[in-house]
Amino acid sequence: MEIRKVYLDNSATTFVSNDVLREMIPTFNSTFGNANSSNSYGREARALVDLSRERIAKAIGAKANEIYFTSGGTESNNWAIRGIAHKLKEKGNHIITSAIEHSSILESCKALEKEGFKVTYLKADASGIINLAELMHYIRKDTILISIMAANNEIGTIQNIQAIAQTAHEKGIIFHTDAVQAFGAINFHVEDMGIDVMSISSHKIYGPKGVGALYIREGVEIEPLIYGGEQEDGLRGGTSNVPGIVGFGKASEIAVRDMNINMHKIRGLRDYFLKALTAKVTNFTINGHPHQRLQGLLSITFEGVEGESLATLLDMKGIAISTGSACNGGSHRISHVLNAIGLDANQAKSTVRISIGKHNTKEELDYVVDAIAESVERLRAMSPIRLKKKKLED
Ligand SMILES: Cc1ncc(COP(=O)(O)O)c(C=O)c1O
Repeated sequence: MEIRKVYLDNSATTFVSNDVLREMIPTFNSTFGNANSSNSYGREARALVDLSRERIAKAIGAKANEIYFTSGGTESNNWAIRGIAHKLKEKGNHIITSAIEHSSILESCKALEKEGFKVTYLKADASGIINLAELMHYIRKDTILISIMAANNEIGTIQNIQAIAQTAHEKGIIFHTDAVQAFGAINFHVEDMGIDVMSISSHKIYGPKGVGALYIREGVEIEPLIYGGEQEDGLRGGTSNVPGIVGFGKASEIAVRDMNINMHKIRGLRDYFLKALTAKVTNFTINGHPHQRLQGLLSITFEGVEGESLATLLDMKGIAISTGSACNGGSHRISHVLNAIGLDANQAKSTVRISIGKHNTKEELDYVVDAIAESVERLRAMSPIRLKKKKLED
C-alpha cells in the first residue's frame, strides 16, 4: 500500500512552483552563458539576472542596484553582520542583536566577539517580542549595528521592525533585518520601513535552494564576505548562479502578487486546523505572539509528549513536520528560541513546529489531526510522567 504524504514543514523549505521552474529550465541549456562574459551568451544571461534584480527590488520597494545576490539567507546574514562590523570598526565595536535570532546571525556575532567586538543579545518576552525600551537602554556611543529578525523561524513572532529601525536611525546606527521567514508573508517596503540592510532567501517562497539576496541601501558601506571577481558590483565574487537567480526573481514576483490570496487561504487553513485539533486533543499550547505571528507557522507544545517521538510517529504516517527548527541542521540541542521565551527543558522537548503552505488542503489537515490525536494519546499513555502518576494512584 502506498503511504499517503502530507507536507507541513513549509518554514523549512518549499517546493519550486511550476511557473518558477518554467522560467528556470532554459537557463540550464539554452541561455546558459556566463552573466559576466561580454559575448552574446553572456549578454543574454546578464539580461535575465538584471530582470530578476528588478523583480526583487520591486517586491521590496528598493532600487535594482541595491540588490546583491548571494547563496541564501545564511550567507546574507553572515555578510551583513561581518561586512558591516568590519567596515565600521573604526567608528565603534558594539553590536546589538537578539537572543532569538537564527543561528547564522548568532554564530556570526560569536565569531566577531572572538575578534574583540562586543555584542548585546536582547531578551524577548514570553510572546517573542523584543522590547524597545530595552533596546534603547543598551545603545551605546560605539554601537554600529542593530540586527533584529523580522519574523522568527521557530515561533513565527513578527517584530515591530519599523519602530526598531526608527530607534536605530535616531542614534545614527545601521539597521539590518533577517527577513528570510517574513518575505512573502508580510508586506515589505524597505524605504518606508527604514530598513538599511535586509536578508532574504528564495527557497522559503517557492523558489530554488542555494540562492538569496542582501538588500543594501544605497550609501551603506559594507566589506565583501566573499572575495573574487567583479560580480555583484565587486562586492560578492563568484560566477552568478543564473538558474537560481532567475527562479528567485520569478518566485519573488509571484509571492508579492499573490500574497493576499495566499495569506487568506493559509489563515483559513490554520484556523480550521486549530479548531479540529482543539476538538480532538487536550493539553496543548501555541507558542509565540497570539496574533502578531506568521499565519502558517504553529509552534505547539503537547504536554507529556516528546516532540521527537511525535514527529517520528507522524513521519511513519507520511506527515512531515519538524521539532524546533530544521534550519539548525537537525541539531538535538534544546531550542535557544523556546528557552528565550521562557519554556523549560521539558516544555521545549514537547514542542513541534507545523507550518502550513499555500498548497495544503482541509482534507490533508483532517488526516493530520486524526494522526496527531492518535499519536499523542499513544505517547501520553507511555509517558514516564503519566506512568508515575498512575502508579501513585494505584
Ligand atoms: C530566519 C532565518 N534566517 C536564515 C535562514 C537561512 O536561510 P538559508 O536556508 O537560505 O541559508 C533561515 C532558514 O533556513 C531562517 O529561517
